[in-house]
Amino acid sequence: MLLTALLVLSLSRCFATNYFQPEQIHLSYGASIYDIVVTWTTYSDCKSTVEYGIDEYERPLKAHGSTTKFIDGGPERRVMYIHRVLLNNLTSSSKYFYHCGSDLGWSALFWFTTPPKDESKWSPHLAIYGDMGNENAQSLARLQDEVQRNIYDAIIHVGDFAYDMDSDNARVGDEFMRQIETVAAYVPYMTCPGNHEQTYNFSNYRARFSMPGDTEGLWYSFDMGPIHFVALSTEVYYNFNYGMKQLVKQYYWLEEDLKRASEPDNRKKHPWIITYGHRPMYCSNNDFDDCRQHSTFVRSGIPFLKWFGLEEMFHRYGVDLSIWAHEHSYERLWPVYDYRVLNGSISQPYQNPKATVHIITGSAGCSERTDPFTPIKPEWSAFRNSDYGYTKVKAWNDTHLYLEQVSDDQDGKVIDSIWLVRERHEAFDNLDHLD
Ligand SMILES: [Fe+2]
Repeated sequence: MLLTALLVLSLSRCFATNYFQPEQIHLSYGASIYDIVVTWTTYSDCKSTVEYGIDEYERPLKAHGSTTKFIDGGPERRVMYIHRVLLNNLTSSSKYFYHCGSDLGWSALFWFTTPPKDESKWSPHLAIYGDMGNENAQSLARLQDEVQRNIYDAIIHVGDFAYDMDSDNARVGDEFMRQIETVAAYVPYMTCPGNHEQTYNFSNYRARFSMPGDTEGLWYSFDMGPIHFVALSTEVYYNFNYGMKQLVKQYYWLEEDLKRASEPDNRKKHPWIITYGHRPMYCSNNDFDDCRQHSTFVRSGIPFLKWFGLEEMFHRYGVDLSIWAHEHSYERLWPVYDYRVLNGSISQPYQNPKATVHIITGSAGCSERTDPFTPIKPEWSAFRNSDYGYTKVKAWNDTHLYLEQVSDDQDGKVIDSIWLVRERHEAFDNLDHLD
């Protein structure tokens, strides 16, 4: 009996495979944009170390972090180890080289660049999109090329990843994270959850990404040069099977966050308030999604009670721009509040608008293809297009922000662009009398 047991044990050792090799490496901002968190995956338990430095070959700095065991909720209960290491006290305006892993295996060599010391003179440039999957990730090759030519400071992925991260016992999530390593290992890849992340209470999303704050990446905010970014989970309005606590917590957190961001000193430093969340308040796609309804949950609050709607709050704090996804298309709205178009003027609609501007950009590419629009464009919709693509945002300074939409179908052609100009970033409800 003992001999048999020993034989089985030695045979199992013969066939054991170790997975210490780091993969799925990606970056995110920590408590500030001068802190970078490196996150990666192994399939065997090991330490978490990043060796880094400004010199490509020496890399004299070393940081250690945490290793967390993650068990996927699928029937195979697959196990992976998520490694997180914070790099802080980074020197501004520098190119850092790094690899991550442990003495049992190191990743390839990657690099990232840090922002300038004086944020007020910085014009951050981002690519923003939602709804990119493992299959048919059409925009990814163009983004990989652009990121590696160092044109972006960060990327924001506005929900719906992989389709889905938990599919095939989370193997689809693994492969998707390997795909995006080619961009996300070079620039912070900031995220928020979408409906495709909801399985097992968003556990794959929460485990794989490392967003700022202590809400496991479901909602958070960060400052980036002249921008105060706010990431939201719209899914708290649609997944009551996980309870309503998250919705209430997020709502009161958001009110506090916007209040703090609107204090004169803070708004002076970071005048642009830009929110991003997955499911839009408005859309004019030819489908039955909630954004086709007049009173969407996110805009007006939960059904019947009308509690926790966000549009009024955005208006009250003068949110400049709201970016959404979920619809697999691009749509730019006129400045709008409660279906009223509140343009700055007839000739300059986006110059000192009197309401938040909404953009829906969910056509990066996924297995569900793109979404068509209704035959008639509503009066609050300014531009619509169903090409695959993504949005570029550059905050040039405190008053001028430039947006453009890139069509991947048309070989990178810019199919839409606007200058959003706000000379005073104030609450919009102060301006209602000007309507
Ligand atoms: Fe979605």
